[in-house]
Amino acid sequence: MYRSHNCGELNLKNIGQNIQLSGWVQRVRNLGGMSFIDLRDRYGITQLAFNEEWSAELVDSARKCGREYVIQIEGEVIERSSKNAALATGEIEIKVSDLKVLNAAKTPPFTIEDETDGGEELRMKYRYLDLRRTPVRNNLLLRNRVNLEVRNYLSKEGFIDVETPFLIKSTPEGARDFVVPSRMNEGQFYALPQSPQTFKQLLMISGIDKYFQIVKCFRDEDLRADRQPEFTQIDCEMSFVEREDILNTFEGLLKHLLKTVVNVDIENIPRMTYDEAMETYGSDKPDIRFGMTFNELNELTQNMGFGIFDNAELVVGINVEGCANYSRKQLDALVNFVKKPQVGATGLIWCKYNEDGSLKSSVDKFYSQENTKAWADKMGAKPGDLMLIMAGGKDKTRKALNDLRLHLAEELGLRDPKVFAPLWVLDFPLLEWDEEGNRWHAMHHPFTSPYPKDLALIDTDPGGIRANAYDLVLNGNEIGGGSIRIHDKELQKKMFTLLGFSDEEAKKQFGFLMDAFEYGAPPHGGVAFGFDRLVALLGGKESIRDFIAFPKNNSGRDLMIDAPSTISNEQLIELALESTANENA
Ligand code: AMO
Repeated sequence: MYRSHNCGELNLKNIGQNIQLSGWVQRVRNLGGMSFIDLRDRYGITQLAFNEEWSAELVDSARKCGREYVIQIEGEVIERSSKNAALATGEIEIKVSDLKVLNAAKTPPFTIEDETDGGEELRMKYRYLDLRRTPVRNNLLLRNRVNLEVRNYLSKEGFIDVETPFLIKSTPEGARDFVVPSRMNEGQFYALPQSPQTFKQLLMISGIDKYFQIVKCFRDEDLRADRQPEFTQIDCEMSFVEREDILNTFEGLLKHLLKTVVNVDIENIPRMTYDEAMETYGSDKPDIRFGMTFNELNELTQNMGFGIFDNAELVVGINVEGCANYSRKQLDALVNFVKKPQVGATGLIWCKYNEDGSLKSSVDKFYSQENTKAWADKMGAKPGDLMLIMAGGKDKTRKALNDLRLHLAEELGLRDPKVFAPLWVLDFPLLEWDEEGNRWHAMHHPFTSPYPKDLALIDTDPGGIRANAYDLVLNGNEIGGGSIRIHDKELQKKMFTLLGFSDEEAKKQFGFLMDAFEYGAPPHGGVAFGFDRLVALLGGKESIRDFIAFPKNNSGRDLMIDAPSTISNEQLIELALESTANENA
């Protein structure tokens, strides 16, 4: 028997018991004739005590243990003289009577404690060591917890888990596919699914009625803190439903998760149209934990001789409460922030509403006190507030002001990770115009149903059609998206034509789905949540990497196993890729 207990469970109740523990040596401390070892396992840390007065030989053995040695001990649980309230086992220690080294360890390349000296790359290379650290391990425990609660909720609602294949034909979701060459079908390739979209729709045609899967998806796209090339979705689809049914079902899921995982009760999830989100937050995933909403100021600012405002498609501002006392240096820092290439603005106009009621702006030359007071009234600014205004093309200006809004909120501590503010964003445009390709793109995906009322525009004004689609946003992050699907062959055909597919191409790529629509397709719709993002947010973070056991770095590499890698010439020949090999050689 390696252990009678784990390293996180012993306390005063166990005093006097003889126990065995196994685990890793986190730290050895030597004090005169005594030594202490912090012994760690998944469950916690227990202090082991050694004393020359009890056994000089054991003190010697303890001192020979290096960091991360795997050891097994036997001993008696005794009360500690100096207790550690921060530790679950902090009131006791083990008077060790036997110590066995199960496996020695090289000195780890970074400290395996809550705070580590290891840089990101090093920690990725030795991910199995990083996972020994409590904060990272806790993220995996959280992930497991959320997974279980998703299953509990969806099972209770009658959803069944059906697995769909990983070796498929590409589904157009907007990113590039990862492809896999087929040995048995020379010159042909599978694609790894960007999502199980078409399969879950086929399952509805099969009569599965309520499907879910916690499933890996693969997308060859540029990586960011909230994106990985392989990530996990909670993928769901339902038959005989309208948008309202889906919103209610998954509002229930989020409420269940917030309650069971972080013990937070939320009211009903507010809803906003895409247009409203863009107008009031400049983003289709607004963080509604705080105000600073947008105010359009064209009417109050134009035709008064200030060229930048006069020539702008949009003049728009936010009111920052209580910041009229910002120094010149602080204001310059904001101007520099918006001029960064990632934000891309050319400048920022500020206007202080001073405590004494006077107004002072960076454009006083062009605007009187009365003018700027009118801005303050429009923006709901009070004495003591700071108004920040940007101008230019509509889309660019909204994006830049959204960046500034989030930056300020971060600076002012308004983005509290313990506050959860979900939001449904509805009525996305069905299509977006691709200037480069000179054609329409599906904003969500080509299977999304147009808003029934807008169907009439399909031939005359496709850009004006709204999609029967919805996103779930949490604290400014898109955590899910879905839509009511097209279930009619003719409409689906029309969509493909609109998206620039010839009949032949549509048949080649999606013939299976179009055929299936002819055998009794029920009205259906669904949604998919970004599982990694959801878990990260529940854990109070926006970066998903530390909530994935073995993530990739920003260049899509697994530094630990060193993938991707080249393959042997024999493999290339077998896969009929040898000509590529020669070109590379
Ligand atoms: P969508 O493409 O919006 O919809 O994806 C659903 C959710 O998955 C998450 N997500 C990602 N998470 C991490 N890394 C990535 N690279 C990544 N890409 C997306 C996001 C997103 O909201 N088939 C449709 C769903 C449907 O219509 O039912 C789909 O995949 O949180």
